Amino acid sequence: MRKGMFALAAVGLLATGSIAACGDNDDSDTGSGSGTSATGKVGVILPDTKSSARWATADVKYLKAAFDAAGVTADIQNAQGDKTQFQTIADGMISSGVKVLVIVNLDSGTGKAVLDKAKAAGIATIDYDRLTLNGGADYYVSFDNVKVGELQGQGLVDCLTANKAVKPVVAELNGSPTDNNATLFAQGYNSVLDPKYADGTFVKGPNQDVPDWDNAQAGTIFEQMLTSNKSIKGVLAANDGLGNAAISVLKKNKLNGQVPVTGQDATVQGLQNILAGDQCMTVYKAIKKEADAASELAIAIAKGQKPTSATGKVTDPESKKDVASVLLTPQSITKANVKDVVADGFVTKDELCTADFAKACTEAGIS
Ligand code: BGC
Repeated sequence: MRKGMFALAAVGLLATGSIAACGDNDDSDTGSGSGTSATGKVGVILPDTKSSARWATADVKYLKAAFDAAGVTADIQNAQGDKTQFQTIADGMISSGVKVLVIVNLDSGTGKAVLDKAKAAGIATIDYDRLTLNGGADYYVSFDNVKVGELQGQGLVDCLTANKAVKPVVAELNGSPTDNNATLFAQGYNSVLDPKYADGTFVKGPNQDVPDWDNAQAGTIFEQMLTSNKSIKGVLAANDGLGNAAISVLKKNKLNGQVPVTGQDATVQGLQNILAGDQCMTVYKAIKKEADAASELAIAIAKGQKPTSATGKVTDPESKKDVASVLLTPQSITKANVKDVVADGFVTKDELCTADFAKACTEAGIS
């Protein structure tokens, strides 16, 4: 007992000592003029709550948990898809003296404006999930997004092959044209699909970007695609929200389950669509790992330390400059391994296995 208390006290002393030492580091100047050993604040701006369920249910939760565990104050806000609001939130965080700003941009132009202001105020910057083109953030944390697209392309190929589809017409519902990730996803899935179009195994059907990843707009776009091209036999949808929009239209036409649809994010809705047989696959990105990687960098900076974990690099295609990066590995999910997402704690059995899906859950080995 006594020994335990002593150990705890010693850890406490050590911790205090290391913070004080860090406070002496010149790199840690917050611009607030305090010049003391205080740990700085972190600001995080998430993009919206509609383009994917992840921003409302996953990222905010894992980021908050990581900052809380480190005892670092974090102001985490969501711009609700509004670019003006995004700037206003950033201005507020900058003037409140954050030491690190973490952003998921709504587009590269408005993202860059925020990064520029932060830099001018001596604030360190982290691009979270989406690279801000020509933005010059200090760090970038994301997944291997080309790989995400490759998994989607291969998933669709596997489902069409299992369906024994002959020269299927494939429609593509791409993400937002202003999201660099959407470009990378498309690069990935087209690297798989283009050779199939070229050798005549698949037929290239309609292909459209969905502005701002707007799910409602995706429904309208896909409805038009299907009206003008009744023989669509496969849909490459860039995330679960776009996939669900396509599935809703397919349902109206009694085609759900016959036309494989892809997705991304392993949302509860996407996983349920997979269990129901309406969605062919999704891509699971362990958001906890992404949030942990970003907060690890932010926490180090907030404590005046030089982060060491961003060992990779990504070249910004516009500025041609390298950005120190952490890129994580995505995983393909089909009915056969939906249970992995539950086992990883990303969704719970209760959320997923509601009455309509109870039987499918049992069949999928989720118990
Ligand atoms: C993210 C995806 C998300 C999409 C829409 C992308 O930048 O990587 O996970 O589905 O934005 O929010």
